[in-house]
Amino acid sequence: MLKSFLLFLSRRSGLKKAMVAFAPTRNLAWRFVAGETLDSCVEAVKAVNAKGLTATLDHLGENVSSEALATASADNYLKALEAIAAHKLDANVSLKLTQMGLDLGETFTYKNVRRIIARAEALGIFVRIDMESSEYVEQTLALLKKYRDEFDNVGIVLQSYLYRTVDDLSTVTNDWNCRVRMVKGAYKEPKQVAFQEKARVDEEYLARARELLADARASGRYHAIATHDEKMIAGTQAAAAELGIAKSAFEFQMLYGIRRDLQDRLRAEGWNVRVYIPYGTDWYPYLMRRMAERPANLIFVLRNMLRG
Ligand code: FDA
Repeated sequence: MLKSFLLFLSRRSGLKKAMVAFAPTRNLAWRFVAGETLDSCVEAVKAVNAKGLTATLDHLGENVSSEALATASADNYLKALEAIAAHKLDANVSLKLTQMGLDLGETFTYKNVRRIIARAEALGIFVRIDMESSEYVEQTLALLKKYRDEFDNVGIVLQSYLYRTVDDLSTVTNDWNCRVRMVKGAYKEPKQVAFQEKARVDEEYLARARELLADARASGRYHAIATHDEKMIAGTQAAAAELGIAKSAFEFQMLYGIRRDLQDRLRAEGWNVRVYIPYGTDWYPYLMRRMAERPANLIFVLRNMLRG
């Protein structure tokens, strides 16, 4: 119930203004967001790299309402790419197509994102397209296919809670030779398209993770297992051992500010670990999804409110 309510609030732009100005929410945001500027993100990436972890930068934002805003979003990514190169960061970027104009049209979005992928290719940087709510999956995959026809440095995210993912995984790997980040899925989805029970989403996750490892072994494609769930991680490690896959053949990914202990432990054990580092002023929906994943995070906000 609470999870659904928080995900509902994440889409309410009316509430966003008040929440972003509200000190307790801002304080919680800085647990999960590196800061509002690219400089703050660069510092966070340097700290993560110093520990032997790699990073993926996310300039926060989604569902822009004009081409000017979408163009500005892409420009922000171009700046991030230059910063990665200038500071020699061990990092790539993750982006959302709705931030690049998907609600405004596929042709415009295609061109806008193509600028980013082309510049990233020139700099030797990988671009990951995040997966958003189910209404965008078809368009996201259609655009991915176009980019894959032209570029090697672009990959996708698939969500284990969607029924369709088992088929999408086969298409994007076997037919499009694409690298995949597997996640459970962070949006509120109806039962017509997604498994509702956590146990079932987890079961699907482990099955898809195993398929990705088998694909890594057969094709050499470098996939990502993105989760903080120790059961998913242990299951992936067991599958890797069983399939005889080297630790370097894939990577674990986790979000900035979540389970740092686990990130460090996996790295110390010799696994590749990438940290997803968001930054920027548009952090409200991202923060609400993090609260929905773990409503206990709300206690932090409430405690700060009581302290006044
Ligand atoms: P689960 O939710 O079962 O959590 C397992 C444990 O992890 C919890 O018990 C807790 O200890 C810890 N944990 C998880 N979330 C936490 C939080 N918010 N605060 C504190 N602790 C928390 N989704 C999507 O739909 N599209 C996308 O493109 C991406 N991209 C993405 C990139 C990366 C690198 C990661 C790690 C995740 C995503 N996600 C995503 C989010 C993903 O779908 C999922 O919502 C979260 O990873 C939480 O699920 P877990 O797999 O961690 O398991």
